[in-house]
Order: sequence, then structure tokens, then C-alpha cells
Amino acid sequence: MLAHAQNGRFLGAGSCSTSGCHGGAADQSRQFVIWQEFDPHARAYATLTMGRSWRMTEALGLGDPTREPRCTTCHAPHPTQIREGVSCENCHGAAEFWLRTHTRADYTHEERVRAGMRNLRGAYHRANACVACHQWIEPELLRAGHPELMFELDGQLAGMKRHWRKSLDQPAGQQWLVGQAVALRELAAQPTRELEPQRAVLEWLLQVLGENPEEPDAIARRVAAESWSDAHTANVLDRLLQTADQFEQPTAPRDVLARRAERLVLALDRLSGGQPWPELERLFRQAQSRPDFVPEMFGATLRQLRDRVRNTAP
Ligand code: HEC
Ligand code: HEC
Ligand code: HEC
Repeated sequence: MLAHAQNGRFLGAGSCSTSGCHGGAADQSRQFVIWQEFDPHARAYATLTMGRSWRMTEALGLGDPTREPRCTTCHAPHPTQIREGVSCENCHGAAEFWLRTHTRADYTHEERVRAGMRNLRGAYHRANACVACHQWIEPELLRAGHPELMFELDGQLAGMKRHWRKSLDQPAGQQWLVGQAVALRELAAQPTRELEPQRAVLEWLLQVLGENPEEPDAIARRVAAESWSDAHTANVLDRLLQTADQFEQPTAPRDVLARRAERLVLALDRLSGGQPWPELERLFRQAQSRPDFVPEMFGATLRQLRDRVRNTAP
């Protein structure tokens, strides 16, 4: 996960935060301020000081969570300044070799990457960076009470509070699909019984889209390189909505269907383009609790949404 740490020393967010650099007031230079005030990652260390974290480490027979590598590897991975939580260099790469040159106006993105800055351009590279902490987790931590992780690139990029130009983003549907394929790749690479249901859901999802789930990395690379149009989004949306039948006449155990429904509503949310579909709100509620999940009801709502989308298609 921290392979890039070998490429240079970590210098800390303080190296990025001066007002002339990324701690300024102008939109192009506010990255530090945005991160510190709005980014969930700036709170990742503080989480380890909470009672809930102590209860988790106690259940594991461990001590102070802020000193426990099994927690800090994701919540405070900086080698020395752990209080920063997840900070600039954990995504952008250890700064030792690129700090001085990255400000040169004549430097291209490629030259900065060659100097050791991590390439986060495009959905595939971004997914690889984020998924390292956002999908696979030791089953023992889950048993000790850690929340289940569910990687969803597009929604989680939006949840970060963007500190980069919007023009660098790819369309929502494309980022979503790349993220789902990368999530599957991670789960398939380290099979564990506890995460098996999540893996199965992602395989199902890619199959619904006509993809071969045996090759998730190839899917992610291919989709990230496509020139994605509204027609792509419409096609993905239509295929997902066609699964209504599978819920109305259940062909799988209820728990399996409940998990499929969870991933499905997240997908529909990203593919909806922000349209206020009342059916989508109902689907969210219907998918909220696994024990209370009623496949037939969910399927019926899904069919209603399908009819709405088909009737309003241009
Ligand atoms: C070094 C590990 C690490 C990396 C890399 C990382 N995250 Fe996180 N992320 C975390 C941790 C830990 C939290 C939980 C923070 C807390 O304690 O509240 C988190 C929380 C979040 C949250 C809020 C909770 C949620 O899931 O909605 C979002 C959104 C998020 N990360 C998005 C991203 C995105 C997008 C990327 C890639 C650009 C990324 N993260 C990369 C570790 C990481
Ligand atoms: C594989 C990376 C990873 C590891 C290892 C990890 N966490 Fe997390 N943790 C996360 C992410 C990501 C989130 C955010 C999940 C979300 O909100 O969807 C999170 C969320 C949490 C939360 C809930 C925070 C909230 O505001 O709801 C607590 C508490 C927590 N982690 C504690 C720990 C402790 C204690 C350990 C070590 C025993 C640990 N974590 C190990 C990635 C990790
Ligand atoms: C959780 C991951 C994450 C963290 C933490 C993070 N960034 Fe970023 N940052 C990104 C991503 C993703 C992009 C988009 C990169 C691209 O498309 O080339 C980005 C882009 C940028 C850009 C380019 C903006 C533009 O429009 O060209 C700057 C500058 C930047 N980050 C600075 C920082 C600084 C300074 C910090 C710490 C205060 C920080 N980042 C923390 C993920 C992160």
C-alpha cells in the first residue's frame, strides 16, 4: 500500500501549506485549506483517539489505536507526523524528490510524475490510489467492529470535497464503473470468507453489464480509456434497471439480494445525473436494512423507475 514511500521521504503537509503555495485564499491555491476544513481524511487520526477505536483494539487484544500499525496503515500512514491523518503525500506521493521541481511552470504533468509525484489523473489511477484503503480490510478488524468498507470511486471522490479543477474529472458513470471493477480486483486478489459476499455482488454487477468478471483489471483499464458519452450512461442505466425481474421473482437468497440492492442504489445514484427521481429515494429506503429487505417490493420500485426513465428518454 505504501510502496511509494520508498521513492522518497515524507515531508508533511506543512511543506504544502504556506499561503503562496496550497494554503492560499484563491481557488487555485486553497487545497490545504479545503483538506484541513472539509476533507474527511484530515479527521482520520482523530478517529483513532475515540472510544469506539479503543473498543476495537481491546477486542483484538491490542493497545492504543494511534500506535497500532493495523490501524495507522490507513488512518495515519505518515511515517512521522501521524496526527495529519491521511494527508497530501498519502495520495500524491512522498514529496522529497518532487517538492522543489513541481512548482516549475514549464514542468508538464508527465515530468512531475517522473520526478516521483503520484499520477492521479484519470479514473484508473485514482481508483488504484483510493482503493488501497477503501475496500479490502482484515476480516479480524471487521469482527472487532470496524465498519464494512465499500469502495465506490465516483461517490467517494464527490464525498472528499474536490480540491482540483472539475475539468480533470471523467463523467460520473465512467468513474463509477472503473471503481467497481477495481473494487472487485482487490477482493479477488485476497479472497477471505468474510468478504466473499461483497465479491459475489460485484461479479453479479459486472455480469449484468455484459462484462467478464474474471478480468476486472482489464475492464477498469479499458473503460477508463474510453471516450464516454451520455449514451454509455444511458446504456449502463438501462441494464441495471432491467434487473427488476430478478428481485420481483427472487432467484437468490434474500441476503444476497439485499447486498445487490445496496450496490445497485449507489450505482443508480451516480448514474442519475442528479435527477430527483422519487423512486430512487424509495429504493434507498428499501435497501437500507439487510434484515428488513423485501426483494419483491424493491423489484417493483425498480420497475417503476425503469418505466419513468424509458418514458422520459430523449
Ligand atoms: C491512506 C489511506 C487512504 C487513502 C489512500 C484514501 N483514503 Fe479515503 N479515507 C481513509 C480513512 C481512514 C477514512 C476514514 C476517515 C475517518 O476516520 O473518519 C477515509 C474516509 C473517506 C471518505 C469519507 C467516508 C466515506 O467513505 O464516504 C471519503 C469520501 C473518502 N475517504 C474518499 C477517498 C478517495 C476518493 C480517495 C482517493 C482519491 C481516498 N479516499 C483515498 C483512508 C484513505
Ligand atoms: C484498510 C484500511 C483501514 C484499516 C486497516 C482501518 N480502517 Fe478504520 N476506516 C477506514 C475507512 C476507509 C473508514 C471510513 C468508512 C466509511 O465511512 O465508509 C474507516 C472508519 C473507521 C471508523 C468509523 C469512523 C466514523 O466516523 O464512523 C472507526 C472508529 C475506525 N475506522 C477505526 C479503526 C481502527 C481502530 C482500526 C484498527 C483496529 C482501523 N480503523 C483500521 C479504513 C481502515
Ligand atoms: C485522498 C487523496 C488526496 C489527498 C489527501 C490530497 N489530494 Fe490533492 N488531489 C487528489 C486527486 C484525486 C487530485 C486530482 C488529480 C488529477 O486529476 O490529476 C488532486 C489534485 C490536487 C492538485 C491539482 C489541482 C488542479 O486543479 O490541478 C493539487 C495542487 C493538490 N491536489 C494538492 C493537495 C494538497 C496540498 C493536499 C494536502 C493538503 C492534497 N492535495 C491532499 C487527491 C488527494
